[in-house]
Amino acid sequence: MTTKIIGTGHYVPERIITNDDLAMIMDTSDEWISERTGIHQRRIDTGEGVVQMASKAAKNALENAGIMAEELDMIIVATSTADYLFPNTASLVQRELGNHQCTCLDLSAACTGFLYGLNTAHAYIKAGMAKTALVIGSECLSKTMDWTERSTCILFGDGAGAVVVTEAETGIEEIVSHSDGRKGEVIICDSRPLENFLVKKDVTYAYTRMDGQEVFRFAVKTVPECIHELLEKAGIGVEEVDHFILHQANERIIHSVSKRLKAPLERFPMNLQNYGNTSAASIPILLDECNRAGMFQSGDKIVLSGFGAGLTWGAILLTW
Ligand code: COA
Repeated sequence: MTTKIIGTGHYVPERIITNDDLAMIMDTSDEWISERTGIHQRRIDTGEGVVQMASKAAKNALENAGIMAEELDMIIVATSTADYLFPNTASLVQRELGNHQCTCLDLSAACTGFLYGLNTAHAYIKAGMAKTALVIGSECLSKTMDWTERSTCILFGDGAGAVVVTEAETGIEEIVSHSDGRKGEVIICDSRPLENFLVKKDVTYAYTRMDGQEVFRFAVKTVPECIHELLEKAGIGVEEVDHFILHQANERIIHSVSKRLKAPLERFPMNLQNYGNTSAASIPILLDECNRAGMFQSGDKIVLSGFGAGLTWGAILLTW
């Protein structure tokens, strides 16, 4: 018995910001951003927030799965940009969906968050603690950006993706999951600063800081290594994988992974040109777009792989 994806959905804010739009507010250009990253535009939230985006993606996924919210035993939201410190995002999504009893939890593992969320749902299902779960990645990265720091803010976008999973005979086959906190500062964003009756501070809200080249080196080395580890555990070759659904951070990272794995680039669908890096939302948004485009056939082997702040990374092999 394992866990199968039975429905997918996504939602992105309406407001499109192109590279040319960014060039009007900072010293950058469409040429620089496109060449370095492959990103042409991103969606930017103008007031909906993480809960609303997550709820819309979730409704879309439930409809696609053909199940009612009441049938869910669990809702997991992977996010690093929650609207509230508490209650958690998942409980507020639950309220929007009209299910009033299932387990609701948020999970923070930056751009690997959706994979960790799927692993957690799988573990609950394997343990008999849940039968059907909703796993969502929802992010409003734009509020964590310093929009005067051109080397970081141009990469990110807002949005949400969701999958419905349930127990089944085929589905998730193998998982690898890793973290290494020693490089925690290479991509980091502070929470609220400590300020109370003992500690007085001028409260300033910090933004995302990133060592882009270090993150790039980490991704191009770690992702192929971890996919090799995954496929070795599963006992299958790279050539048997039909689709590689990678975290959508940068086109050059995906090209490099394809080259290092010696797997044709056609097996690496991409949508980062439209959305930029939406962190925990990127894998489920792409999964949904591929699913609705009819790209997946029953029995296809799919590798999902994510990487990001923590540092965290991992990969999942599943049969569609
Ligand atoms: N527009 C124009 N010029 C820019 C710019 C921008 N948006 N951002 C930086 N530059 C300039 C720099 O100031 C630098 O100028 P200098 O040589 O005069 O000092 C030059 O471009 C090169 O900057 P550098 O940071 O070395 O570029 P890079 O080739 O490493 O590309 C990234 C920068 C961020 C695109 C790249 O490192 C990257 O994609 N890293 C991975 C980041 C990532 O994916 N993070 C999320 C992971 S989950």
